Amino acid sequence: MAGARIVGQARPPVLRSKAALREAVGRWQAAGEVVGLVPTMGALHEGHLSLVRAAEASCDRVVVTIFVNPAQFNSPTDLENYPRTEERDAETLARCRVDAIYAPPVSEIYPQGFCTTVSVAGLTDVLCGAHRPGHFDGVATVVTKLFTQTRADRAFFGEKDFQQLQVIRRMVRDLDLEVEVLGCPTMREEDGLAMSSRNLLLSDRARAVALALHAALQEMAEGLRAGGKAPALAEAARARMLAAGFTEVDYIDLRACDDLSVLERPGREARLLAAAWLAGVRLIDNIAV
Ligand code: PAF
Repeated sequence: MAGARIVGQARPPVLRSKAALREAVGRWQAAGEVVGLVPTMGALHEGHLSLVRAAEASCDRVVVTIFVNPAQFNSPTDLENYPRTEERDAETLARCRVDAIYAPPVSEIYPQGFCTTVSVAGLTDVLCGAHRPGHFDGVATVVTKLFTQTRADRAFFGEKDFQQLQVIRRMVRDLDLEVEVLGCPTMREEDGLAMSSRNLLLSDRARAVALALHAALQEMAEGLRAGGKAPALAEAARARMLAAGFTEVDYIDLRACDDLSVLERPGREARLLAAAWLAGVRLIDNIAV
């Protein structure tokens, strides 16, 4: 059954209501098919497409959601400026084996009177959570809704948003949600910049400066390998980023993968994570060490 749509010829159907979504997913699952979900906020790039490909490889059916979630933005300007390219996204997905795009209106996710928040304590107090109050509550709430609305069997998230991935994993475990969460490696431009929808907001000049983020993480990783301690290396990395043209560094930190606790040296499975501002755009990145 999978692949019944002629890839490259027609756009996947765009579903706007949870009823239409459930009808499609229910039909596929009743036929014994495994349904994969790729949640996105649109402005699709190669990073998203790598998630789609991972879903295609292990699922019979693939649903991509496009929903710019107002609950996870900290400022109205950021929400307003977030790139919205649904037409182009649908064209892009026509070249994949995607069975449906779920692009609901805000009222389908947050109907009038909506007053429930999913909040994952601890993991969300640090890193991006500390700098973007309420952001992960917004993410956890919308992802729970996307899981319960689609009832997908598997869901695919990028490791670029490493903290988000850990928050979603914990939420799924704590709430016994019946979906398998899979993390996929960060996709990078040839020069190393992590792919992100926000890169579209960078001028050519800022785009060149943005490289300093990945470079700082790599230099810090080298410093750790040479026996250095994370706090001192982070201070030097922060100074280099500011000198390169970043206006503010929210954090650059060595953290344990499982609970995101601070580490001085990578004694257990660890990641270097950073978030910084450049020309009014907040960029994040992380690498394994
Ligand atoms: O990573 C994103 O694009 C968003 O945070 C997500 C997971 C689609 C929830 O809105």
